[in-house]
Amino acid sequence: MFKQLFAVAACALAITSTPAISAQQNGPIVIKFSHVVADDTPKGQGALLFKKLVEERLSGKVSVEVYPNSTLFGDADEMQALKDGKVQMLAPSLAKFGNYTKQLQVYDLPFLFDDLDAVNRFQKRAKGRQLLRSMEDKGITGLAYWHNGMKQLSANKALYMPADARGLKFRIQPSDVLSAQFNQLSATPQVLPFAEVFKALQTGEVQGAENPWSNIYSKKLNSVQPYITETNHGVLDYMLVSNPTFWYSIPHATRVVLEGIIDEVTYSVNRQAEEANQADRNRILASGSSQIITLDDQQRQAWRDAMKPVWAQFEKEIGADVMQAAQVVNRKSRN
Ligand code: LMR
Repeated sequence: MFKQLFAVAACALAITSTPAISAQQNGPIVIKFSHVVADDTPKGQGALLFKKLVEERLSGKVSVEVYPNSTLFGDADEMQALKDGKVQMLAPSLAKFGNYTKQLQVYDLPFLFDDLDAVNRFQKRAKGRQLLRSMEDKGITGLAYWHNGMKQLSANKALYMPADARGLKFRIQPSDVLSAQFNQLSATPQVLPFAEVFKALQTGEVQGAENPWSNIYSKKLNSVQPYITETNHGVLDYMLVSNPTFWYSIPHATRVVLEGIIDEVTYSVNRQAEEANQADRNRILASGSSQIITLDDQQRQAWRDAMKPVWAQFEKEIGADVMQAAQVVNRKSRN
């Protein structure tokens, strides 16, 4: 008898504690949108605009809860939470999908994209669009690409030439390409969740990092990094994702409205990202916290030459076709 009661209680507990992955049929569909950056960043603003437009257009049908700053889930557990139905929307950086597809590593290759316009062109073309659907069999559906910005190298010492980075420990996102990039400089890469970057820089656990201006400023990384070199050596971009079981269980008419809203938000995020990053660059400059080092052509070429061997190391995993498609979107002349 006791055993039976225990079994019934355990079953009831399992039902109540395991969230259903499909969109609920009674009452409003709840979309929990978790991310790791501050509200005042391109992604943070995009999440809030998504919530606002859903409230305006799908009131009573869909409600959106936004959890910024790793307050619900962080780098270590957000993808599992998406698969388990504990969260319905994420926008991780493209560097964080390495366990699901190797093709997205193309975005981490140093000095591949000249600027965000080039990234935009790649994402609008066939290969870029194809990558959005490259993880459906792994329980991740890509809904859109959102930009942040080009990454800058920061450190506790001035970095003018690649040799200046030798021996330093740099925080990286969990990406084999980024690890190889710092190995190429004879520096040490150290994977850390975004939520731990400030502390790791402050305590000296790592001495440097690579981030776009918006992430540096919104997380006050400049207050613990006296030197920032304007390398623009890589891109930090996001994929807005959902769980396909959840997404395709949303009634068709509602889903169409959501997709329209996502298009609108994507346009807004991507149009404003560069400006937002430049504004944060100027705020850092005005704060006087850090010296911003700009590179002349020769210095920039030295960084490019030092990091470029990484391309060949990953060509097989990424696919020569994807890399070729990414290279042709650049319009500036280069060596
Ligand atoms: C990082 O970990 O540095 C970034 O992916 C954080 C973010 O979401 O912009």
